[in-house]
Amino acid sequence: MNCTKCKTKAAIKLPRHHAAFCKNCFNGFVHDQVAKAIKSQKMFGKDDRILVAVSGGKDSLALWDILLKLGYKADALYVNLGIGNYSERSYEKVRDFADRVSVPLGFTLHTHTVEQEEGAGIRELAQLVHRPTCSTCGTIKRYQFNRAAIEHEYDVMATGHNLDDEAARLLGNVLHWQEEYLDKQGPSLPASVEGFAKKVKPLYRLTERELAAYCVLNKIDYIVEECPMAQGARSLLYKEVLNRLETESPGTKQTFYWGFLDKQRKKESAPTTMAQKDQAMLRSCTTCGQPTTAEVCSYCKLMVRAKTPASR
Ligand code: AMP
Ligand code: FES
Ligand code: ZN
Repeated sequence: MNCTKCKTKAAIKLPRHHAAFCKNCFNGFVHDQVAKAIKSQKMFGKDDRILVAVSGGKDSLALWDILLKLGYKADALYVNLGIGNYSERSYEKVRDFADRVSVPLGFTLHTHTVEQEEGAGIRELAQLVHRPTCSTCGTIKRYQFNRAAIEHEYDVMATGHNLDDEAARLLGNVLHWQEEYLDKQGPSLPASVEGFAKKVKPLYRLTERELAAYCVLNKIDYIVEECPMAQGARSLLYKEVLNRLETESPGTKQTFYWGFLDKQRKKESAPTTMAQKDQAMLRSCTTCGQPTTAEVCSYCKLMVRAKTPASR
């Protein structure tokens, strides 16, 4: 099998693009896909300061690497969730990449340690508030990502969500007809109000498999295992189902998700979308000042419950 572009020996086959690439041409393809995503969704420019949320997994480390190679100014934030060995190993991967690649280029790795800042690891916090670990984790991560971006005055906050993540999320939202979530599911969410950072997903045009290949070919060492709390999560089932469809009919994932984005773009010209209605309802949390649709934001509610003896 030879590279579709330069005809030397190919390193990876991409059925959904009817192509195969050698390492160099594959890197070119990945960089092009990210550049297209950034441009078509008006994510950011060369002068913007970007904060990448890095977990130690393949997607976010690849994202940090790609943005730096494309010449963007990107620092990163790692949230240490305090999940024993898993968090320790994922932090090692982030630290190693930062020390080797980003810090020598003059970029910074910020860290937020949940055990220190919130007073307990994510599993203990979830038990205290009687909520599933993953949803407690989601609330804390979303809050801390936004807070770090605002406090350090970044123009935009980027996460490593890929095509598989976005297609699986879309499938879940469609299966349950969660229209309010459908409205808010996009690769570029504007900084709607003061205190809310702009959020982007520059990897939405690339699959999990392509990002794993990018890391291996470019010697980016990442944590392979999933978070131990994610076992049995619905999203993993949706990904499995989509992968089966993809094997039978290459391109299914991208047709599904990009088709949704096309429809969403057309709808945006309609008078008031649900997301705009939500924005109109935003106000400052009476405890911490961050934007919320309630009087007290979900993070502050969670922290109050975690600290109230009655909830233990
Ligand atoms: P996940 O929800 O685990 O699929 O992660 C989606 C994206 O969120 C990743 O690609 C990262 O950009 C970001 N992320 C997840 N966990 C962390 C973490 N502990 N610290 C920083 N960023 C994270
Ligand atoms: Fe949040 Fe696993 S990453 S609970
Ligand atoms: Zn708050």
